[in-house]
Amino acid sequence: MAEKLTCRLAVLVSGNGTNLQAIIDSIAAGEINAVITCVISNQPNAFAMQRARQHGIPTVIHENIGFADRRAYDAATVEILRSHQVNLVVLAGFMRILSDVMVDAFPHAIMNIHPALLPAFQGLHAQRQALDYGVRFSGCTVHFVDGGTDTGPIILQAVVPVDQDDTEETLSHKIQHEEHRLFPTAVKLFAEGRLQVTGRSVRILP
Ligand code: GAR
Repeated sequence: MAEKLTCRLAVLVSGNGTNLQAIIDSIAAGEINAVITCVISNQPNAFAMQRARQHGIPTVIHENIGFADRRAYDAATVEILRSHQVNLVVLAGFMRILSDVMVDAFPHAIMNIHPALLPAFQGLHAQRQALDYGVRFSGCTVHFVDGGTDTGPIILQAVVPVDQDDTEETLSHKIQHEEHRLFPTAVKLFAEGRLQVTGRSVRILP
């Protein structure tokens, strides 16, 4: 019987990298048939890069310096990704909006995690937005990236209750707990070829 192909990931980060860590751990535990070919950061001092190095994963610091515009930066990103023969691009706290150059290069093959129940509270400071609005529940969303900001087809969501005493910090903590379960699950589904996208809808195949 033909052996199943190992999915080749690139993880793009800007910060702490707890979601990167969750994916590294899931792969190490044999839960996902994937390899992280590289971790790319626009922030040279992101702690996520240390996590990658500790696991022997190649890292690329890709700062937004000397590029004419967002599209030029993204064209350089696409080159890096192509050189690693990447099947799936994972945005794990990558705090940049992608241009059409990236989105068109990897159709339905870029995943983002957002700390709210989309389409509510798109953009920055989603937890603050949820608290300010007074919602009783928030959560996180893994979605494919399209041309908009936090607008692409939804893959998975998880809900957390918002308590009266929650602060941005406590709500973020609860949401991250769910993120660390949700994101590896979405990557696993992709790696198994079980995500079928039709228009806005993502069907999870058995
Ligand atoms: C995560 O909570 C993720 O939802 C959020 O950044 C955090 C990164 O944490 N992403 C966004 O807000 C994107 N709009 P991490 O670096 O510890 O994985």
